[in-house]
Amino acid sequence: MEVIHTITALKMLLEPRKLAQQKIALVPTMGALHKGHVSLIKIAQQYADIVVCSIFVNPTQFTDPKDLEKYPRPLEHDIEMLQEAGCDFVFMPLVKEMYPAPEQWHIDLGNAEFLLEGEFRKGHYQGVTQIVKKLFDAVDPDLAFFGQKDFQQILMIRQMVAHFGLTLEIISCPIIREDDGLAMSSRNIHLSAEDRKNALVLNKALQYVKDHFNDYSIEELLQKAIDIINSTTGVELDYFTIANTDTLLPEYNKGAKQLIALVAAKVGETRLIDNMMLD
Ligand code: PAF
Repeated sequence: MEVIHTITALKMLLEPRKLAQQKIALVPTMGALHKGHVSLIKIAQQYADIVVCSIFVNPTQFTDPKDLEKYPRPLEHDIEMLQEAGCDFVFMPLVKEMYPAPEQWHIDLGNAEFLLEGEFRKGHYQGVTQIVKKLFDAVDPDLAFFGQKDFQQILMIRQMVAHFGLTLEIISCPIIREDDGLAMSSRNIHLSAEDRKNALVLNKALQYVKDHFNDYSIEELLQKAIDIINSTTGVELDYFTIANTDTLLPEYNKGAKQLIALVAAKVGETRLIDNMMLD
């Protein structure tokens, strides 16, 4: 596995692979890797000849500078994990490599940009799509893999891909959970033992809604889920919604196709998100 720090070196290494018609997959990450990331690498290996994983903590997608500062960066451990997973190339640029000069970025991501995470983290998806476009330009992958835990992020990246008419394929991969149901996240390491226990309520509420989908109206399901979360001390709910998977607008018609329940809450000092498909 090779670790590369510059776009020029990356392009030079990938060029002969492209000429040899090899399929290239990109798994973009911000590091602090866990089994969820490893599953993305493993899925990518099934689709492509070469897997590139990028590790870059992108400053433009953080709305809170303290959040950026405390974002975990266990780089040596990350590299070991990728090596073990059989990743081919790791792209780990410095900030000045990706942002050599000040720049403006604003594209139309549609109404969903301003819902859910977009409401709580203003401008977040502009920053995400800005860096993902730069990574796509650097790697020129045939496919890119993202975890479904950041469901809205995938929707926004698909919008960006459509905006620029890019031809790569975006693949959404299943959420990987701990044995007790907690969705894996780089942020979980910030949870105290008490928070870790309390955080289980997010999966519990989502699972309740899925298991009882046929028993109650959507309004009732939402109320039950909110009650489950609010009855846990140390958990502060930002939103729990049942939405249309294309628009992320709330959906109250149970007959509607493609429903997803999405939740975000602060557990202690750590903000977590999770979701579950309902059909
Ligand atoms: O999901 C993430 O880790 C990041 O938002 C991404 C897609 C790597 C862009 O920085």
